[in-house]
Amino acid sequence: MLSVTGLDVAYGNAMALHGISMEVEPGQMVFVAGRNGAGKTTLFKSIAGFLEPRSGSILFEGKNIVGLPPEKVALLGIRYIFQDKRVFSKLTVRENLELAAYPVKENMKDAVEKVLQLYPKMEKFLSLSAGSLSGGQRQILLIGRALVGNPKLLLIDEPTEGLAAGTINDILNVLSLMRGKVSMVIVEQNLSVVGMLADKVYMVKEGKIMKEMVDKAEINDKAAMERYL
Ligand SMILES: Nc1ncnc2c1ncn2[C@@H]1O[C@H](COP(=O)(O)OP(=O)(O)O)[C@@H](O)[C@H]1O
Ligand SMILES: [Mg+2]
Repeated sequence: MLSVTGLDVAYGNAMALHGISMEVEPGQMVFVAGRNGAGKTTLFKSIAGFLEPRSGSILFEGKNIVGLPPEKVALLGIRYIFQDKRVFSKLTVRENLELAAYPVKENMKDAVEKVLQLYPKMEKFLSLSAGSLSGGQRQILLIGRALVGNPKLLLIDEPTEGLAAGTINDILNVLSLMRGKVSMVIVEQNLSVVGMLADKVYMVKEGKIMKEMVDKAEINDKAAMERYL
């Protein structure tokens, strides 16, 4: 459903991505792993329409989306969850979800329901300000928001970054519940998380794909993966 070919992206004269190619099939959970500065976020920004590549193509369901602005990309069914985990912190959790419902003409109740199905504990927080949520809960709220309007593909940038082990389990659980219902590309540096969930992994270093892994045994072998970091 997503097919990236030969993507070159630069910031001014500084090249950030060199000939990146990747494929995502419907329902897959694909991971992009690599150290800080490898180019993972740049890849997501390019797919989501925030950066224009120098060359290469990005086909989504057969249509080249290079050059489309972010709101058009979103309307086609791609949602990008930023790395910064920013929510409307002064608004309630419910209001954060309702705001997501408006542009995609979804029923506000359904928007709230969606997140409760994935994470029933959110019920207690619906009337509290989103700023009072923990980092993990905020990430779940952002995932819930992104699901409003039934997107086809989610790009999730470092969902477990900075979270404690217990909270990472909540995220793992939420992502597992979403498996097969929506395609996902997830940037993740925690290789244990990658090992538990990935159908496919792209190892990125210095703007290039060093290795593509689909073999389950290989994906579960942290030492093997670390060689490509
Ligand atoms: N806005 C920007 N302007 C200039 N260079 C940038 C900008 N954002 C990222 N970079 C550079 O591009 C490279 C890739 O960054 P990024 O995609 O954020 O990596 P990652 O998400 O893997 O940590 C890094 O060398 C980074 O310094
Ligand atoms: Mg990043």
